[in-house]
Amino acid sequence: WSSDVCSSDLENATMARRPIVGGNWKCNPAKVSELDGLVANMNTCDTANCDVYVCPSPLHVGIVYQKFNKGVYCAPQNCNFKGTGAYTGEMCAEQMVDMGMEWCLIGHSERRGEFGLPTPAESSKLIADTKMGYLLKAGMKVILAIGEPLPIREKGIEAVMEVCKENLAPGIPHMKEYGAEKIVIAYEPVWSIGTGVTASPEQAQETHKAIRAYLAEAVSEEFAAAVRIQYGGSANAKNAAALGACPDVDGFLVGGASLKPEIKDIVDLLVAAKA
Ligand code: 13P
Repeated sequence: WSSDVCSSDLENATMARRPIVGGNWKCNPAKVSELDGLVANMNTCDTANCDVYVCPSPLHVGIVYQKFNKGVYCAPQNCNFKGTGAYTGEMCAEQMVDMGMEWCLIGHSERRGEFGLPTPAESSKLIADTKMGYLLKAGMKVILAIGEPLPIREKGIEAVMEVCKENLAPGIPHMKEYGAEKIVIAYEPVWSIGTGVTASPEQAQETHKAIRAYLAEAVSEEFAAAVRIQYGGSANAKNAAALGACPDVDGFLVGGASLKPEIKDIVDLLVAAKA
């Protein structure tokens, strides 16, 4: 690594950011009978020095949301932007608040259409402005997922940052208003999701550092120093230590490995890397 890429611009603030790991179960498991095992995996995570959240499938949220240990937050995978009413197939913040939920994931690339939705993708304005604003106003905290597809990564970091900025820009006023306690950024390069191809620590650090620098300029130095940026994309117990050692990587949003007992190890490896 060059020392430039390896170091954080906001080194002093790194220590203050509490690590955070999410488990995104996506459209898994197939059977209700498998849920208790998956809940048990999440409940083995040591939350003393790490925030942990889990995103069960929409159909399963209501079954499991009261089964997690204190410190393991149940966070739906999506939200509407209208509230209760005639919105078939949707979930709303008011329902989440009533159920005692505090966090919601929005903007996942699979919601943006990256698994081949034939319908128009959710726009960055809908996600980072309309949905995020609605959730924050309702008292929820937001995990905002962003990230570029492979053809953009192949063009280099400047092209990658153009996509990240486009994803983030509509949410800047909300970041200014609500602050870093309410918002987590999940950087999830599309090419590394579910592929077994992980961003190298150098790539992850370079991108997270650039995202933080953009937020320092667009929101404030204070926000950028405090906001947690998770890496997502084939994170697992084998790469968690090296990725977790990157100063601007504050945690992980884990897909496949969150369905396995190794989610506990990922948390432990991250906490050890930050200690
Ligand atoms: P994988 O860890 O399975 O690559 O998924 C990452 C992800 O999309 C988490 O939201």
